[in-house]
Amino acid sequence: MKFKTLLSGAALTLTVMGMPTAQADITLRHSLTGEVLDLSFAKKGGNTDKFKQFMQTGKNPYNSDEEAIKKGESLYMTGCSGCHGHEAEGKLGPGLADDYWTYPRNSTDQGLFELLFGGANGMMGPQYVNFSTDDMLHIMAFIRHIYKGDPKKADWLK
Ligand code: HEC
Repeated sequence: MKFKTLLSGAALTLTVMGMPTAQADITLRHSLTGEVLDLSFAKKGGNTDKFKQFMQTGKNPYNSDEEAIKKGESLYMTGCSGCHGHEAEGKLGPGLADDYWTYPRNSTDQGLFELLFGGANGMMGPQYVNFSTDDMLHIMAFIRHIYKGDPKKADWLK
């Protein structure tokens, strides 16, 4: 009995120790400089299970989740629509619902997250100042939801 407990304990330790290598996180890089993004700047409360999932897969787990899209819409209206337009049609900043990207990596979830977190040129400042990483994934789900571009260029679905 004792031996058995010891054994299963050892197996458990092995599994836990093996995990970090088996599910290594993706490396997030700044869209302009390529420097590794420092997530320690992130607002508190954003390191949710969904965000952790994103960090392992590079895919936004909130895509096509209706509740998340609704929340993303309201966050977008507060923080982004002033510059990008209410339907992301473009205003001071470029349109976000079509298939033309200044930064082509925005057609992937990882690329879009990197641009939101780290910002780009001019008025497109780093969004970690305003939103948690989990909020950003919600906003991204809304942007993907209102996409009007060529379905073949929807790389985040691949
Ligand atoms: C103060 C105005 C302003 C706000 C607020 C703002 N943006 Fe921007 N955004 C810009 C400008 C200007 C650019 C162009 C920057 C560049 O080309 O480097 C841009 C670029 C972008 C791009 C790159 C688009 C491409 O074609 O590759 C994305 C994605 C983006 N913004 C998303 C957002 C989201 C999402 C929010 C809200 C969380 C937001 N922005 C808030 C002004 C803004």
